[in-house]
Amino acid sequence: MTDPTPALFRPGLAAPGFAAPAEGSASAPVIVAIDGPAGSGKSSVSKATAARLGYGFLDTGAAYRALAWHALEHGVDTSDSTAVLEVFGDFDYAISLDTTDRWVRVGGVDVTTAIREPRVTDAVSGVARVGAVRQAVNQLFRRLVASAALRGVVVEGRDITTVVFPDAPVRILLTAAPEVRAARRSAELTDQDAAKVAAALHKRDAADSTVVDFLTAAEGVEVVDSTHLDFEQTVDAVLNVVDSTMGARDGR
Ligand code: DC
Repeated sequence: MTDPTPALFRPGLAAPGFAAPAEGSASAPVIVAIDGPAGSGKSSVSKATAARLGYGFLDTGAAYRALAWHALEHGVDTSDSTAVLEVFGDFDYAISLDTTDRWVRVGGVDVTTAIREPRVTDAVSGVARVGAVRQAVNQLFRRLVASAALRGVVVEGRDITTVVFPDAPVRILLTAAPEVRAARRSAELTDQDAAKVAAALHKRDAADSTVVDFLTAAEGVEVVDSTHLDFEQTVDAVLNVVDSTMGARDGR
């Protein structure tokens, strides 16, 4: 099969609403990389952190979810990695990095809501397990961020601090105790049974952790444990890490 990466990369659609930098002032955006397991609050905390910093926000899990959605549309068994790789060939993916205008599209179809459906959530681990898919998707993330006309981007996902952006100036592992994560997830999904949500979360953690170790901080990665913090306190804790890390880097 041919390299699918170019079909994935739609820089023109990456971040509408953001002005291009003035001529001569273009520089690579500062990357704040945030890892963590499901229910750690990483998605909403990362988005709020990005908004407070005036940065863009890249939810990397959305790419895996969108690919799972795409595979399901093609009637593909997402546990079959060969079949997943095949449908990846025409996976035309675009995502907004704007914190106030969030959307995800596949082949021009808005899948922002559809990729959160339980059928996609159930299928996504199979897709995220395919090594060749991960490599191409990781390249897409790097190119999306590098081409964004932004001062900075908060990038969140499970291997962001270790695999995708190991050299990011700020790298954070957001954790929380498993029972707290399960409770938060079930509060988000009010239409689903709490015990079932907890069981699904533990199953997904187990499946995902065979691919990426997102529960242990790599060297140089700061841990923010949100077990005893509310949402605003967690955002403040993350912002403190950003401030102290950037301050140390800039000699402040
Ligand atoms: O964060 P999320 O629940 O939207 O992630 C969806 C899936 O994609 C989940 O199974 C973890 C996986 N994922 C990954 O393997 N690597 C990433 N950088 C982001 C998500």
